[in-house]
Amino acid sequence: MSLKMPQIIYGTAWKKEKTSAFVVQAVEAGFRAIDTACQPKHYFENGVGEALAILKSKGFKRSDIFLQTKFTPLAGQDPNAIPYDKNASLKTQVAESFELSKKNLQTHYIDSLVLHSPLFPFAKLLEVWRAMELLYKNAEVLQLGISNCYDLSLLQKLYKEAEIKPSIVQNRFYADTDYDKEIRKWSQENKIRYQSFWTLSANPQLLTNKTIAKLSLKYNKTQAQILFNYLHTQGVTPLSGTTSLEHMQEDLHAFDFVMSDDEIKSIGELL
Ligand SMILES: NC(=O)c1ccc[n+]([C@@H]2O[C@H](COP(=O)([O-])OP(=O)(O)OC[C@H]3O[C@@H](n4cnc5c(N)ncnc54)[C@H](OP(=O)(O)O)[C@@H]3O)[C@@H](O)[C@H]2O)c1
Repeated sequence: MSLKMPQIIYGTAWKKEKTSAFVVQAVEAGFRAIDTACQPKHYFENGVGEALAILKSKGFKRSDIFLQTKFTPLAGQDPNAIPYDKNASLKTQVAESFELSKKNLQTHYIDSLVLHSPLFPFAKLLEVWRAMELLYKNAEVLQLGISNCYDLSLLQKLYKEAEIKPSIVQNRFYADTDYDKEIRKWSQENKIRYQSFWTLSANPQLLTNKTIAKLSLKYNKTQAQILFNYLHTQGVTPLSGTTSLEHMQEDLHAFDFVMSDDEIKSIGELL
């Protein structure tokens, strides 16, 4: 039985050898979802596994944590650190990457396996998806997703062709794509959860906007908490990769207050 995806996900990119300590701190603070990738260029997946082992010794169970990793196609890998045989078929690349993820993460199953970015032409994407479906059918993966997919028609095509439908889209949340409004609407209609990254870093203009500043005063919450709370009302699950304990705690307390419909609408008008 799949663990319900928590309201916020702790992201582990760029933390290198500090990954393990930050993940332990995040879970002890209250995060129950971790995002990583089999992509040594940006993620130290092994450090997440080390953290899970430490957490286990402290009484946390593997089943307490929603664990998400990614298959990163060759184009997204550092040519000097490819975690699979680059000359193998795509099917084998996915299988090898996944075996390594399980080893790195010291687990026999993954809650969510995300394709890090679409491949072109579509036949290649589908070949990778079929390999991911096999892992799902073996019950080694409980949900499948796709990331960096900003073209609704491509997502729809994947959805139509997939035997195991995507359950997750993980995208950059920013003005350049009109905040993925169409993708988010269609995803919600089709029971696909939208995860956002760059949520704070790409949106300083939102965080400093006077509407959000006013709500921040009213609810005694930071602007980041107001934005995360708003996103929750829209069915968006943000990722946070904060390295500060104070921000971890803020992120976790972003969902314990209820804004009025008019307030939610007023934030919506800013996007
Ligand atoms: N699929 C993809 O291609 C992709 C791409 C990028 C990221 N991701 C995932 O998304 C995760 C998050 O990455 P991100 O690019 O969105 O940015 P991030 O790593 O979460 O960075 C957020 C920035 O905002 C600051 N910050 C200030 N207040 C904060 C608060 N209350 N909560 C959180 N951060 C606060 C952080 O500084 P402090 O550290 O000082 O708090 C940090 O500099 C990554 O770790 C990764 O798992 C995925």
